[in-house]
Amino acid sequence: MLNTAFSEQKMSNPGISSLASPRRRLEGKVAIITGGASGIGASTARLFHENGAKVVIADIQDSLGQAIADKLGENAFYIHCDVSNEDDVSNVVDTTISKHGKLDIMYNNAGVFDRPLGSILETTKSDLDLVVGVNLVGALLGAKHAARVMIPQRKGCIIFTASATTAVAGMASHAYTASKYGIVGLAKNLAAELGQYSIRVNCVSPFIVATPMSAPTEGDVQKVEAISSAVGNLKGKVLKAEGVAQAALYLASDDANYVSGVNLILDGGFSIVNPTMMNAFNLVP
Ligand SMILES: NC(=O)c1ccc[n+]([C@@H]2O[C@H](COP(=O)([O-])OP(=O)(O)OC[C@H]3O[C@@H](n4cnc5c(N)ncnc54)[C@H](O)[C@@H]3O)[C@@H](O)[C@H]2O)c1
Repeated sequence: MLNTAFSEQKMSNPGISSLASPRRRLEGKVAIITGGASGIGASTARLFHENGAKVVIADIQDSLGQAIADKLGENAFYIHCDVSNEDDVSNVVDTTISKHGKLDIMYNNAGVFDRPLGSILETTKSDLDLVVGVNLVGALLGAKHAARVMIPQRKGCIIFTASATTAVAGMASHAYTASKYGIVGLAKNLAAELGQYSIRVNCVSPFIVATPMSAPTEGDVQKVEAISSAVGNLKGKVLKAEGVAQAALYLASDDANYVSGVNLILDGGFSIVNPTMMNAFNLVP
């Protein structure tokens, strides 16, 4: 009886079959991923492609980006794009439209960081120019040119990689933190404007992930993951680039079709815990 009801429901709602079997959650969608040549962006390009998306990898690391596109093969291509250059960003969007006829997902992920935690007194204007120019201005330009083609489509999804530094203070440099807070504000403001066109806008905000940005050598990967394990709240787990890609996949997919204006913090609860009380009562080993 239950089985019959389930089958009937399945016929009237094909999406329900996904509960029982793996599915390609971005079948037929077209996605641009900035910073797609490395780390979180490269993992996302692979995962989106595996889920049926046509992916456009946009980056300044041409040989790495091209190699990923070549490896993915059909339905993947690489294009040079410095996200702080409006002509480059406009060109990626226009090339995508001429190749695929539409843009469903714009993942503004490219980013740089100036230095680890440091004093405001050490912050230079050139740090600010670089970090804000790539992280925040690049994100805004990506959103602007995505919106240019998504508004007439009256659908679309814009995602940003912000950072867990937007949920708890004292995690990164002032310039980097300011740039990432700017992205969260931008995402919310865009969600307010673009909701009328059925365009969803969200951020994914990761805790420490060992990528070429945070861990340039193989040896650094172990060190960074050891730090992440030691300070993280969720013990026995470490956030990897693939974990961030899974969160971006959720936000990009129809599973999140009523999710907009959200800053999805991927930090295993780190930012909501204040350990001082548990420490005082010796509750933390
Ligand atoms: N790794 C972490 O711990 C961590 C944590 C939170 C947020 N993030 C954010 O995740 C995003 C991805 O970083 P990642 O950790 O994968 O590092 P990554 O260095 O592996 O990847 C960043 C990519 O962005 C590209 N890029 C840099 N400047 C660019 C520009 N001007 N135009 C186009 N592409 C450019 C780089 O070439 C690189 O391929 C960044 O926005 C970063 O701030 C990283």
